[in-house]
Amino acid sequence: MFYSDDVIEEVRSRNDIVDVISDYVKLQRKGSSYFGLCPFHSEKSPSFSVSPAKQMYYCFGCGAGGNVLTFIMEYENFTFPEALKLLADRAGMSLPEPEYSEEARRQRDLKERVREINKMAANYFYFQLHTPQGERALGYLKNRGLSDETIKRFGLGYAGQYSDMLYKYLKVKGISDQLLKESGLMQVNEKQGMYDKFWNRVMFPIMDVNNKVIGFGGRVMGDGKPKYLNSPETVIFDKSRNLYGLNYARTAKKRYMLVCEGYMDVISMHQAGFTNAVASLGTALTSQHATLLKRYTDEVILTYDSDDAGVRAALRAIPILKEAGISTRVLHMEPYKDPDEFIKALGTEAFQERIDRAENSFLFEISVLQKSYDMKDPDSKTRFFQAVAAKIAGFELEIERENYIEAITGRYQISFEGLRKMVMNVLMQGVPARKAPVRQQARPEKEDGIRKSQRLVLTWITEYPQLFDAISRYISPEDFSDELYREVASMLYTQRRQGTVNPAQIINHFTDPERQSAVAGLFNAAVKVENPKELEKAVQESIYKVVEHAIAQKGRELDPTDMKGLQELIDAKRRLQEIRRLHISL
Ligand code: CTP
Ligand code: MN
Repeated sequence: MFYSDDVIEEVRSRNDIVDVISDYVKLQRKGSSYFGLCPFHSEKSPSFSVSPAKQMYYCFGCGAGGNVLTFIMEYENFTFPEALKLLADRAGMSLPEPEYSEEARRQRDLKERVREINKMAANYFYFQLHTPQGERALGYLKNRGLSDETIKRFGLGYAGQYSDMLYKYLKVKGISDQLLKESGLMQVNEKQGMYDKFWNRVMFPIMDVNNKVIGFGGRVMGDGKPKYLNSPETVIFDKSRNLYGLNYARTAKKRYMLVCEGYMDVISMHQAGFTNAVASLGTALTSQHATLLKRYTDEVILTYDSDDAGVRAALRAIPILKEAGISTRVLHMEPYKDPDEFIKALGTEAFQERIDRAENSFLFEISVLQKSYDMKDPDSKTRFFQAVAAKIAGFELEIERENYIEAITGRYQISFEGLRKMVMNVLMQGVPARKAPVRQQARPEKEDGIRKSQRLVLTWITEYPQLFDAISRYISPEDFSDELYREVASMLYTQRRQGTVNPAQIINHFTDPERQSAVAGLFNAAVKVENPKELEKAVQESIYKVVEHAIAQKGRELDPTDMKGLQELIDAKRRLQEIRRLHISL
C-alpha cells in the first residue's frame, strides 16, 4: 500500500458513494438502495445497485462491485493512486507524501522503470517507421491495407535495420544494462553481449487496459521465420492476463466481444469498425483471460482461424469461457483463413452477417464430434447419438435439454422422441446430471453451493447485527473455504466486535480491482424469500451448511492419531445438531 490505511479511509469516507456515482450513472432509489443501468456492461433494465449503508456498489448482472475507490478505478480506468487523488481533490483534501515499504518501493520503481523503457521503445519504433529507413516497413503495412489512422491508433512501428540500434538509443538515454535486461527488449549472449531482441521487423506495441505499453510483437516482412517474435514475460507483462486490443474493445460497449488469434486480425477488425475485437497473445485462452473478459461482456464470438488449429483452440476456449459465465458462439470464416483475409476479400457487411450467424457453441461442439463418426454405418451412427445424448443430459434444466434436442433433430437424422428417450436413459442411469467437470480445476457443483452459503452468512452479518452472536457462536473465520473469504471474515468479525461494521473499509485492504469486486460479491449475496419466517429458516440452513462443511473439511485433514483433534471433531458434530434446534429471530 502506498498510502497509509488511515489516509485511504479518510478519502473514502469523505466521498459518499451515492454522490460520486450519481455523477456518472443515473440512480433511482428503491428501498434502502439505489439502482441504475450498469456502466460496466450493457443492459436494458437496471441491475446495478449502490448501497448508502454499506457504501458499496454491486451489479447483479455482471458481478462488478466495490467501494467508491474501486468505482473510480474501474470507470475512469485509473490506477489506485490516481483514483485516490481524484477523490481527495473532490473532497478538498490534500494527500500526504505516499509511504512505501522497502520491498514495495523496489518493486514499484522497477515496474515504473520497465514501463518507461517500453514506452521509449514504442516511441522509437514509431519514429523509425516514419524515417527513410522505415520505408519498406511502412510499405509493408500499407500493402496489408492499413490506413495511416490505423497505424497511428495502434502505434505500429519499425524496429530498425540493425541489431544494436535500440540498445544504443537506450544507452544514450542513460538506461543501465541491468534495467535493459528486465525490459524484455534485449537479448544477451556470451559472444555479442547485449543486443536488440527485435530488429528489422514491423512492431506491434501491446497495451494494457490503461493504454500503457507492456510489451511487443514483431513481425518479419515477408516469409522469414519465426513469423512473430514476442516480448518475454516481464514484471509488467503477464501474457495470461492481457488481451491485445482490450484497451479499445473495453469501451466499444457492444453486447459481445470478438476473440481472435492474432495482431493483424484485431487490427483489421478494428479498422473495419469491429472495435470490440481482442486476441490472446500467442497463447491459448486462459481462465484469467476469461475472467477479464467477463468484466466487460457476457458473450464472446470466437473468430479463430478456420484451420484445424483454430477449431482445436475453439474447443478448448468454450469450456473455459463457460466456466467464467460467458456464453460463446463460433464464427465461420470459410472459405477464408482468418478475419483479416475475410474482411479484405468480402468486406464489412459480409463479416457482420457471419457474426449474426455465428454458431451456438454446443452445436459447434456437436458438429466437430460428428466428424469422427461414420454416419453411413448404423453402429457408428448410434454411438454418435449416444454421445450427443450424454452431452445433452449434462444440461441442468429440462427446457434447455428440450431446446437442444430440438436443435439436433433439425440438423441430424433423428426424431425428437427418439433422442429424448436416449437422453432420459442417460439421466436414469444415474450419470451425474452435471457431467464430469470439463477441466481438472473445475469446482464441483456442491462447492459452489457452500460458497454461496458462506457469502450469505457474511452478507447477513453486515445487514443484521442481531445475528452476529448466533453466527459467531458456531462459525469462526477459519471455517470459510477460501483464503479471501477467511481474510474478509476475520476483518468483519473484528469490526462487529468493535461495534461498527464498515464493508467499504474492508474492500480498501485489497488493491486489485478483481479482488475488490470479489469482496463486494461477498457482501451482496441474496436469497429469494417471501417473508421473514423464510429468511430465518434460510439463515439457520446456511449456518448449518457452513458448519457441516467445515467439520467435513477438518475430518479429512485430521491426523488419525490426534486424539485431541478427534475429540474436538466429536464436539463439533454434536454442536452441529444444536443448530437444527437453533431459534433465529430477526
Ligand atoms: N504467433 C506468434 N508467433 C508465431 C506465430 C504466431 O506469437 N511464430 C501469434 C501471433 O500473436 C499471431 C497469432 O499467433 O498474431 C496468429 O498467428 P498466425 O495466424 O500465423 O498469424 P496472423 O495473425 O494471421 O499473421 P499474418 O496475417 O501477419 O500472417
Ligand atoms: Mn493473417
